[in-house]
Amino acid sequence: MDTATRDPAAAKRAAGYKAADMVKDGMIIGLGTGSTVMYTMERLSRRIEKGLTIAGIPTSFQTAIRAREYGIPLTTLDDHPLIDLAIDGADEVDPQLRLIKGRGAAHTREKCVAAAARQFIVVVDEQKMVPRLAGLVPVEIIPFAIRPVMDHLKAMGCDPVLREGLKKDGPVITDNMNFIIDARFKKITKPEKLETAIGLSPGVVESGLFCGFADKTTVIVGGEKRCRIIP
Ligand code: A5P
Repeated sequence: MDTATRDPAAAKRAAGYKAADMVKDGMIIGLGTGSTVMYTMERLSRRIEKGLTIAGIPTSFQTAIRAREYGIPLTTLDDHPLIDLAIDGADEVDPQLRLIKGRGAAHTREKCVAAAARQFIVVVDEQKMVPRLAGLVPVEIIPFAIRPVMDHLKAMGCDPVLREGLKKDGPVITDNMNFIIDARFKKITKPEKLETAIGLSPGVVESGLFCGFADKTTVIVGGEKRCRIIP
């Protein structure tokens, strides 16, 4: 275990910076959400000061606000429905490069941007690398359908919990004005099937399972001395 593994912030910084260094001039970049991508934007900001020309598509209010502070020009999927590269963090990455995302409730926009990207770079620290995806899947739903979606998830054998705010009473409201249900499954044996099955309930917007992007995914695992790049 190297120092960065014992220091997740240093590992995240290393991974985030490495991804930023892989950005080429003229690219349209999907900007994910979360602490690791904040480091990517910090580095991109410095590169922009030195002449890099890019535009980013933010996946959350958090990212849009920070990108503006960093002087990163922003654009939209309306203007760029196909983008060069998306860079994002993850909560779990398995050996097949399937992901769980959504700790920060931004996974719907993150999935839209990843789907639009030719290449998807996932930036993580070693703690996110798991032999198999564990059971907690964030699911964004429209508030109108909370009861039937809860029933659907319970029928699939999980224990769904409406996510509550920490500095707000009541449910977390996403950037899309929806709710998040954290669906805890005992284990996930077939992530692709689970992703599809969760999405079958009307009222589900997106789950945090990202199983369809492995072919275009590169994972950067941050470390102190060097980053591990998969594949
Ligand atoms: C946002 O909803 C999430 O999908 C994040 O991208 C994910 O939780 C990774 O966040 P960190 O980089 O903060 O660990």
